[in-house]
Amino acid sequence: MSKDRVLIFDTTLRDGEQCPGASMTLEEKLQVAELLDEMGVDIIEAGFPIASNGDFESVSEIAKRVKRATVCGLARAGQKDIDRAGEAVRHAKNPRIHTFISTSPVHMKYKLQMEPEKVLEMVTQSVARARNLVPDVEWSAEDGTRTEHDFLCRVVEAAIKAGATTINIPDTVGYTVPEEYRALFEMLRNRVPNADKAIFSVHCHNDLGMAVANSLAGLQGGARQIECTLNGIGERAGNAALEEAVMAIKTRGDVLNFETGIDTTMLMRASKLVSAVTSFPVQYNKAIVGRNAFAHESGIHQDGMLKNNQTYEIMTPESVGVSKTSLVMGKHSGRHAFREKLKELGYELGENALEDVFRRFKDLADRKKHVYDEDIEALVDEGLHTEEDRIKLVALTVIAGTQGPQLATLTLDVDGVHRTVQSSGNGPVDATFAAIKALLPHEAKLELYQVHAVTEGTDAQAEVSVRLGEEGSSVTARAADPDTLAASARAYLSALNKLMQRAARGGHERRLHSTAPLGGV
Ligand code: KIV
Ligand code: ZN
Repeated sequence: MSKDRVLIFDTTLRDGEQCPGASMTLEEKLQVAELLDEMGVDIIEAGFPIASNGDFESVSEIAKRVKRATVCGLARAGQKDIDRAGEAVRHAKNPRIHTFISTSPVHMKYKLQMEPEKVLEMVTQSVARARNLVPDVEWSAEDGTRTEHDFLCRVVEAAIKAGATTINIPDTVGYTVPEEYRALFEMLRNRVPNADKAIFSVHCHNDLGMAVANSLAGLQGGARQIECTLNGIGERAGNAALEEAVMAIKTRGDVLNFETGIDTTMLMRASKLVSAVTSFPVQYNKAIVGRNAFAHESGIHQDGMLKNNQTYEIMTPESVGVSKTSLVMGKHSGRHAFREKLKELGYELGENALEDVFRRFKDLADRKKHVYDEDIEALVDEGLHTEEDRIKLVALTVIAGTQGPQLATLTLDVDGVHRTVQSSGNGPVDATFAAIKALLPHEAKLELYQVHAVTEGTDAQAEVSVRLGEEGSSVTARAADPDTLAASARAYLSALNKLMQRAARGGHERRLHSTAPLGGV
C-alpha cells in the first residue's frame, strides 16, 4: 500500500532558538539551515523577523542561501509583523509566511484582551494580507488544544477562506493526550467547510513528555505536516523532536502508513551540530541521538546482539548516522586517512579548515594514546582558528589544590605582542579567567561555562563551552583539550575573538576595550 507523504517543518531556528540560552549567531543559524536543507526538511522556519533586526537578517540570509526547502518567517496577526515577515522571506525560492493568533478563552481574555469576534476578524485580515505577499500562507490557532470546538471550526474556516494553505493546531502548552489530539483533527476535517483545501499541521510541546506521541496521533487524525525541532529543543520542556518523529515513522511503517523525505543517516550529525551551537547537551539516554541510544552494556544484551542484532535493536545505528566502522586514528595517520575519517563522520572541510584541524589532530595524537571519533568531532566543532584571531594563548601555568590560593600565570599574544600576568581566583578556572580579564579588560559577561568529557578515561579531552554576552547579544565558543584549564582559556579567548570580529564587521571596533598597548582590542 502506498504511504502518505508527511511534510517535516523544522522550527529549531524559531521555537527552538526562543528558549532561554539557545541563541545562535547568524553564521551558526546558516550552518544549521544548510544542513536541514541537505537532510531533506520540507519547510525551515528560520525565525521571527519582527522580533529584532538580527532575526530579520538571519531569516533573510537563510532565505537567500537555502536551495530546496521552503523558508518560513513567523508573524503575529498585525500588519507590521506580516509585512516584515514577507520582506524577510522575499528572496526564498519557496517563501512562506506563518501567521498566528490565540484562540482559547484564557488567551483571548487575558493575553489578547479581545472579544472572540475581533479575533475572528483578525484571522481573516492577517491571512488575506499575507496571501497578498506570498502564495504559501500558514495560519496557527495558538493554544488550539484548549480552544472551544465551535469557535475553532469558525476560525479555521475563516483562515481557509482567506487563503491559508496550511492550518496548524498547536498544543502550545503541552496539555493534550494522543486520543484527544487525533479526535481534534478528525473533528475539524469533518466539520469545517473546505477543510480539504488546506494541509493540517501538528505542533506539540513536551510539557507532559507526549509531544512526539501526540504528533503521531495528529497524523492519524488527518494532519500531514509535523512541526518539530532537532533534539526537541524549544520553550519550557521543548517541542516534538524531529529525529524521534521521523524514526518512529520509518521504523513503525507497519502501523504508521506514512513516509517523510528525510535522509535519516544525517540525523546524528544534525543533532550534534545543534547541540554544539546552542551548548545544550543531549541527554545520554535521549532516543535516537543520545550517546547510549545504541549502547548495549549488560552481558545478556551483548550476548543477544552478537547472535543477532535484531534481538535488541529495532533500528540500526547506521540508519541514523552512527557509524560502527572505524578507521582508527593515531599519531601515524596521514592527511589522506584523516580526510577519509572526516568524511566518515559527515564532515567535508575546505583545504584551509582541513589543514587547521589536521594540525590540531596531530598535536592531540602526540599527547593522547587513543584518538576517538568523538575527539575528532570536538576538534572540528571548535571551529576554524583563523588569521582574524587577534588573541592567541601562548602559555598557561596554574597552581591548584587544597592549599590555595589558586594562581594562574598567563601569557597571551595580542596582535603579535606577548603579555604576561599572574592572577589569583576562587579555584583554578576563576584564576585563569581573572588573568584573561587582567590582560584584556572588557565588559562582556560570562553567561555560560560548561565542561564535558568528550570520551571516557582520565586522559579524555574536556570540551568547554563559553558564552559571553554584551549589549543584549551573545557569542558561544568551544575548545577541547586533555587539559581542562587550557580548554577553558582557549574557549574564553575564542569567544573574545568572535566578539571582536563581530564588532569589527559592525564597524564599532572599540566594543571591547583595554589598556593602551592593545590598541583597539
Ligand atoms: O506553540 C505555539 O503555539 C507556537 C505558535 C507560534 C505556532 O509556537
Ligand atoms: Zn510552539
